[in-house]
Amino acid sequence: MMKISYKASIRYYSVFGIMTLALHMAGCGGKDSGPETAQPAASVEPVEQFPHYQDSILKVGRTVVVEKCSLCHETGREDAPIVGKAKHWQKRLPQGIDVLVKRAIEGYEGPGGTEMPAKGGHMDLTDDEVKAAVLYMVKTVE
Ligand code: HEC
Repeated sequence: MMKISYKASIRYYSVFGIMTLALHMAGCGGKDSGPETAQPAASVEPVEQFPHYQDSILKVGRTVVVEKCSLCHETGREDAPIVGKAKHWQKRLPQGIDVLVKRAIEGYEGPGGTEMPAKGGHMDLTDDEVKAAVLYMVKTVE
């Protein structure tokens, strides 16, 4: 989890610390009540739907998915299969990871006319980054 949100929470804490300090000086903060009620993780995580994994490839995958693929794959926009929703993937997984990766890289149009754009429209992504993203998506529904 931990690297990104840990760092972010330190930053959050230091901003929050100033506010807490002000509160304490005003005489209304209970003992240590400030940072505990801050819940930094909840406020810095853009989307809780996306679990963290220890594996380094899956870490890369998660970043790519959250930043580049979630536009469609978080909510199912244009019928995109939703990350973490096993039902949406059960017909797709049997195609095998190679087909899924190839389609994510090259793009394809589904039978219903819905389109997965090549690399999700992000041509700056390397093939390996897209592959990591697909591995991550698959992992969330395993
Ligand atoms: C603009 C919307 C959009 C974005 C952005 C997008 N996708 Fe998709 N994706 C879709 C749609 C729609 C489908 C379903 C197409 C169908 O089967 O009809 C899909 C399907 C897929 C599939 C399943 C392919 C299959 O064979 O069943 C994978 C894997 C996938 N996307 C990976 C990604 C990855 C990785 C990214 C980010 C790099 C990404 N997508 C970004 C719209 C998007």
